[in-house]
Amino acid sequence: MADYLESAIAIAREAGLLVRDFAARRDQAQSKTFDLKGEFDLVTEADRASEALIVQRLRERFPHHSVVAEEGSGGRRSSEFCWYVDPVDGTTNFAHGFPVYNVSLALARHGEVIAGAVYDPTRDEMFAAERGGGAFLNHRRLAVSQAARIEDCLVATGFPSRKRHLNVNVHFYYQLAMLSHGVRRAGAAAIDLAYVAAGRLDVFWEFGLNPWDMAAGALLVAEAGGQLSTMSGEPLTLDCPHLLVTNGRVHAEVLELFRRIYAGKVDYPLPALS
Ligand code: IPD
Ligand code: CA
Ligand code: CA
Repeated sequence: MADYLESAIAIAREAGLLVRDFAARRDQAQSKTFDLKGEFDLVTEADRASEALIVQRLRERFPHHSVVAEEGSGGRRSSEFCWYVDPVDGTTNFAHGFPVYNVSLALARHGEVIAGAVYDPTRDEMFAAERGGGAFLNHRRLAVSQAARIEDCLVATGFPSRKRHLNVNVHFYYQLAMLSHGVRRAGAAAIDLAYVAAGRLDVFWEFGLNPWDMAAGALLVAEAGGQLSTMSGEPLTLDCPHLLVTNGRVHAEVLELFRRIYAGKVDYPLPALS
C-alpha cells in the first residue's frame, strides 16, 4: 500500500512543478492562452502536459491499472485498480494567473479510494492520505475543525464550468452566506476538500463534480475525521456528482438546511434588485 501512496505523492509533485513552470513562463510572457472544451470549460497546454506526464509515470509503475484522466488520455484495463487523474484542478484560475490550482491523483480499488495526493505547487503543500492511515499535509497529521454550529463555520462551494448559468447552487450559496462566517469560492475543488481535512474550512459542497475532482480530496476528509455524503445524506460514491463534506459536527445541521432549501422553505429570500 505504501508504494501506491508514495507513487501518488511523487507523481503529483512532479506534475505540479511542471504546471508551476508553465505558470512562470505564462506570467513572464504576460499572455493568457487556453482552448475551450465547451462553452466555458477551459483547457490549457499545462493540463495536457501534466496529464501526459502523469499517465506515462502511471504506465511505467502500474502497467495493468486502469487510468481515468480528465483530458481523456487514460485507458481502461481489466484491473481492480483505477487511478483518477486531475492534471490541473482549477484550470480557469490557472489560465487567468489566479494562483489557486493543484494536481489531484487518487487510486481506487474495487471503486473504493485507497490512496490520494493533492499537490498545490503555489504553496508547496502536499496533502496525502491512505485509507486507514490518516491524512497529512507535508508529513503533519491533519484533523478536521471542531466548529459545532453553522454560524461558527467558514464554508466553501464551487460552480462547475459547464452550464454554470443553470446551476441551482446560487440558492444554497445565499443561505449559507447569511448563516456562516462566509462562503469561499476558490475555484479548485480538490483544494476545498483538502482544506476541510486541514480544518481551514468547516464545510464544502458542490453540485456536478467528476470523480477526478473529488477522489483524492474525499479520502483526505475521511481520514482527517470528517463526514461525507450526498446532498440528502446518502453515503457518497465516486459516481455521485453532488457532495457535501463537513467536519462531522455540523453535518446534520447542514443537511437539514439543505432539505429546507430544496423544499423552498428558505429563511432568507434572495433580495430584490431594486
Ligand atoms: C473544476 C474546479 C472548480 C469546480 C469545478 C471543477 P477543473 O475543476 O475544481 O473549483 O467548481 O466543478 O470542474 O475543471 O479546473 O479541473
Ligand atoms: Ca477538477
Ligand atoms: Ca482539470
